[in-house]
Amino acid sequence: MLLGVNIDHIAVLREARKINDPDPLDAVSLVKRAGGDQITIHLREDRRHIHDEDAKKIIENSPIPVNIECSINPEVIQIVTALHPHRITLVPEKREEVTTEGGLDVLHYFDAIQLIAKQLKNEHIELSLFIDPNTLMIQKAKELEVEWVELHTGMYANIYAMLYSNLSRTHHSIQELECDRKSLHDKLENALNVLQKSASEAKSLGIKVAAGHGLNYQNVQKIVAIKEIEELNIGQSIIAKSIFVGFENAVKEMLGLLK
Ligand code: PXP
Repeated sequence: MLLGVNIDHIAVLREARKINDPDPLDAVSLVKRAGGDQITIHLREDRRHIHDEDAKKIIENSPIPVNIECSINPEVIQIVTALHPHRITLVPEKREEVTTEGGLDVLHYFDAIQLIAKQLKNEHIELSLFIDPNTLMIQKAKELEVEWVELHTGMYANIYAMLYSNLSRTHHSIQELECDRKSLHDKLENALNVLQKSASEAKSLGIKVAAGHGLNYQNVQKIVAIKEIEELNIGQSIIAKSIFVGFENAVKEMLGLLK
């Protein structure tokens, strides 16, 4: 199982003071040294954390592949394509959201994504779509001939948090989950089955499968057990742990759970 470390939250801390410290670029060599496989960053339309200059420096200097998440906004696509990352992951984006809520509606944006897919093929940049685990989305991803899908694990992570931990819950549909423990167990099983089914469907269509969102040191192992998933992209929990144990140790500890 490969690990992409999402380092956006280093830039979040920097932006809290609007100074140059900490610099997300400093994390890149540490991810590699810890054994991580990929750097993941999200260039948001509002540039609330990672800036264009961060993306440029990180791509130019990273010894491991860089995966840039972004919306389908043509201006942003133009910028990230020119930077030539290893992979671009298209995500839905709302200005007011705290983090990426839900997967990309591939059906609704099919034509726009198709244009981007053609452009990236010409540039030899891998394309991934961040989608909810759902058969229709996977079929559309296949039609678009993308190399990867990344399955949104937010629903699973939120149900897990409600059952087993006091970690914060941020998913937009959390009200839908307010129910008794027995039904939460059923919902957790169901969320895992849906992820398993989607991962199998995508893999059988020749699409590589990544997953991410809300994964942490407590909940990750049930996702690791889904053999069709090749890669996880994890940010918040690794950066949070690094405050207490150091960044390199936090990455290593997560890698230990992925074996
Ligand atoms: N994958 C994608 C596509 C995301 O948008 C995010 C959040 O930026 C992550 C993974 C990482 O999520 P988390 O920070 O909850 O680990």
